[in-house]
Amino acid sequence: MNAPRAVLQTAAMHRLDGKIALVTGAARGTGAATARRFVDEGARVVIADVLDERGENTAAGLGDAARFVHLDVTDESAWGQVVDEIAATEGALHVLVNNAAVLHLATIDATATDAFERVMRVNVLGPFLGIRTCLPMLRASGAGAIVNIGSIDSVQGAALTGAYTASKFALRGLTKVVALENKKRGVRANIVCPMLGNPEMHPEIVGTDSGPVRRGGGKPPELDVIAEAVCYLAADESRFTTGTELVLDGGHSAGTALDLPDEWFDPALRRRPLR
Ligand SMILES: NC(=O)c1ccc[n+]([C@@H]2O[C@H](COP(=O)([O-])OP(=O)(O)OC[C@H]3O[C@@H](n4cnc5c(N)ncnc54)[C@H](O)[C@@H]3O)[C@@H](O)[C@H]2O)c1
Repeated sequence: MNAPRAVLQTAAMHRLDGKIALVTGAARGTGAATARRFVDEGARVVIADVLDERGENTAAGLGDAARFVHLDVTDESAWGQVVDEIAATEGALHVLVNNAAVLHLATIDATATDAFERVMRVNVLGPFLGIRTCLPMLRASGAGAIVNIGSIDSVQGAALTGAYTASKFALRGLTKVVALENKKRGVRANIVCPMLGNPEMHPEIVGTDSGPVRRGGGKPPELDVIAEAVCYLAADESRFTTGTELVLDGGHSAGTALDLPDEWFDPALRRRPLR
């Protein structure tokens, strides 16, 4: 006998069904888009950020499957408290997304030591503390996934981003070491490298046609596109993928793109004799 329609509907599978995820810097921007995508795919999500009101609102907008916790990712003891609280209330942790970061735009000459240290603390020390604190629970889950949010600046340089580029290259390196150390311990680690993200991170350069330091070429990815990539790397469907980077830049870093006229792509060209 056929199963009733209601039974068939409730059996629909989502890509993150039953997973508990912690997403840092998820009060807004890429992290918030990721949290939304995770909830849509069946996960329960803990949104962590220093922006309390924005984070509470983001979590409230996602319903019962999401909640906000205050976390400064540079605070070692705060990481311990958050992870202990997740163990007590959720009983497991399957996914850690290290997304929180800050940007500092200045030439190397103009980058103050404390500005450099601040970027490294949030963008490198923060993910390191998160990984070290979460690893025991991720291993215990049997199918743990760490997704670090890097940048196109994890794979190539950009003027005025000395501290940020150094931090994002470091995060890419850290990702590979975590992957190697844990490939037989049930935890994968990968890094997503988008070309752009939330304009709120750098309002002074995005949306200003005449701005002196606008980045050239390519179209910024929509935040949903980044969230989709993070979802893939968090889900079991990417179970054979670890220690790698997924670059989302529309081909920007692939090499030199000539703006060739359409006639170059006309198959008739191939039939012309060489001279
Ligand atoms: N915005 C871009 O152009 C761009 C480009 C490439 C990659 N990225 C990366 O994408 C990720 C998300 O950035 P976004 O574009 O959504 O920008 P965003 O500024 O909206 O997001 C960063 C979030 O991190 C939080 N945060 C900052 N310091 C923190 C701390 N100490 N503890 C906890 N949370 C903290 C912020 O409050 C914010 O909510 C970052 O890793 C960023 O480096 C951004």
